Amino acid sequence: MNILIVYAHPDPQSLNASLKDYAVRHLQAGGHTVQVSDLYAMEWNAILQADEIPERADHRADILREQEKLRWANTVIFQFPLWWFSMPAIMKGWVERVYTLGFGYGVGEHSDQRWGDRYGEGTLAGKRAMLLVTAGGWESHYSPRGINGAIDELLFPIHHGILFYPGMEVLPPFLLYRTGRMNEALFAEACARLGQRLDTLATTAPIPFRRQNDGDYDIPAMTLKATLAPGAQGFKAHLAQPPSLL
Ligand SMILES: Cc1cc2nc3c(=O)[nH]c(=O)nc-3n(C[C@H](O)[C@H](O)[C@H](O)COP(=O)(O)O)c2cc1C
Repeated sequence: MNILIVYAHPDPQSLNASLKDYAVRHLQAGGHTVQVSDLYAMEWNAILQADEIPERADHRADILREQEKLRWANTVIFQFPLWWFSMPAIMKGWVERVYTLGFGYGVGEHSDQRWGDRYGEGTLAGKRAMLLVTAGGWESHYSPRGINGAIDELLFPIHHGILFYPGMEVLPPFLLYRTGRMNEALFAEACARLGQRLDTLATTAPIPFRRQNDGDYDIPAMTLKATLAPGAQGFKAHLAQPPSLL
């Protein structure tokens, strides 16, 4: 497979750098071709420019290179440390600039009957994506009743709004918590767990987000049909199976 790792960490000595190096080695040893977009090393310009907004889209060489990598990839891994409950700003800026009109959004025919190709369809349809995220907090802090909020909910805007929106199937994330207590044994354990996830990228069941154009939503309101998941609201409503069955 062709695998793209979009990677955001400024320090080549970090835990994230070690995990990224492990992932690249492991995937290459498995016969895959890997490209890494190392955003800090590339000095990625994360600031969307005035002449890149849709009406005046003037695609820059750096944007086109990243779009080409996305087209090339069968699977895309987004790796980052959780910073203030989300991705580092440099990666958000990568999304804002690379997902141009006609590439990341505004794809397909748009009418009152069909709201374009998005949420399961679009430029990146047929590809798989996975987040690889490290967090200082404990797993329990991110559990369904944890004080930080449930990790599935914190990651929903990335999973659903950034990965599923332009068409990718979204695999459950690889999460590494409590990074402050890392040592050699725990790192080896994390690599073993990560290796298993990398070995099953092609076969792991994706998160069952509802596809926009499969009939689950009223058009053009784009609300979930009243007969589906009655009572469910918010993020969970967009899962075709309730989380308890996952
Ligand atoms: C700016 C910043 C913001 C952070 N925000 C969070 C956070 O919201 N939740 C959390 O659990 N850890 C947070 N952390 C801790 C990092 O997630 C943790 O240090 C990182 O995952 C460890 O990996 P690294 O050694 O590769 O940086 C934050 C760290 C920094 C520097």
